[in-house]
Amino acid sequence: AMRQRQELLKLHETAADIYHHVLLNTEAGEEALHYLKERGMTEELIKEFEIGYAPKERILLQKVFERDNVSDELLAESGLMTERDEGFIDRFYQRIMFPIRDDKGKTVAFSGRVLPSETVDTSKQPKYLNSPETPLFNKRQVLFNFDKAKAIARKEQELILFEGFMDVIASWRAGVKQGVASMGTSLTNEQINMIKRQSKNVVIAYDGDSAGIEATHRAIDLLSAQTDLGISILSLPGGLDPDDFIKENGEDRYREIMKNGRESPFSFYMRYHQKGKNMKNEQEKFAYIETMVKELAKIPSVIEREVYITQLSEEFSISPEAIESELQKVKQVDR
Ligand code: CTP
Ligand code: MN
Ligand code: MN
Ligand code: MN
Ligand code: MN
Repeated sequence: AMRQRQELLKLHETAADIYHHVLLNTEAGEEALHYLKERGMTEELIKEFEIGYAPKERILLQKVFERDNVSDELLAESGLMTERDEGFIDRFYQRIMFPIRDDKGKTVAFSGRVLPSETVDTSKQPKYLNSPETPLFNKRQVLFNFDKAKAIARKEQELILFEGFMDVIASWRAGVKQGVASMGTSLTNEQINMIKRQSKNVVIAYDGDSAGIEATHRAIDLLSAQTDLGISILSLPGGLDPDDFIKENGEDRYREIMKNGRESPFSFYMRYHQKGKNMKNEQEKFAYIETMVKELAKIPSVIEREVYITQLSEEFSISPEAIESELQKVKQVDR
């Protein structure tokens, strides 16, 4: 098994090198390279993240692995190939390739993004295609860019969670390098443990659209179960994701909002639950306060709860005692 692991790692390293070479140095990679540059990607960044391109013919890795006499068994285990009656062909084609690395920086999987080209029917193709689960790759245990972010996170005592790879990379370009992204899934306990080992604080900086806001809600719930982890939220205006935000507003503005634009989970919930409601309507206001009391009940820290009770009491001119007593009722129901 140890031996097989080494061999699979070798295949991934070879694949990453080849995809990278195709993107930077061949005609087949031109369209993709152009697209990436349009998106603000520099050659330096492309090298830093070893981004590549898999051309449409599906014979790139096939030929190299055949030349190297790689066994069928290994090809099948690698997740890099698809088995057909005629033999193995490349799994990834016509995609921009992002190597996914483990915490030691070894490539253990790929995620491939489609090009927004007329030749691809994007309604039939997922935007990002990930490697399947393999002996090297369990997507629950991997965070994109964790290998590089962890040293910075340790120093800054903060790790930033993004939704997408492009957000991690755009943020890196702007000098905010302690960012990671999960593999298009919601946060897992394994990932939370990885984060906790590096940093006492985590910032959720998901997309500003409704999917991102829902995902933020879920992430707060998961992370709040960890009493020893500080959580803050960075909400970007206008439904933008960090990559779009940087493109529209520039890197200075991004760094500034990253530094000063954070809020507590409770403030996030206050905005979240008020959205679309009329607080001048008594019924809606009471329903809102009830919801917030339930959110309060989830907060393990007494001190934090005190702060938020004050916040809520001041905003709606209700005595802290009244909120406190509602809170006790909610907690009794919970038991
Ligand atoms: N994702 C995925 N499969 C999809 C769509 C999304 O795995 N069909 C994952 C990817 O990891 C992606 C993340 O979810 O990075 C966030 O999705 P989205 O916001 O739609 O993509 P962006 O990261 O913004 O991608 P881009 O800017 O390249 O369009
Ligand atoms: Mn390499
Ligand atoms: Mn999104
Ligand atoms: Mn996005
Ligand atoms: Mn995006």
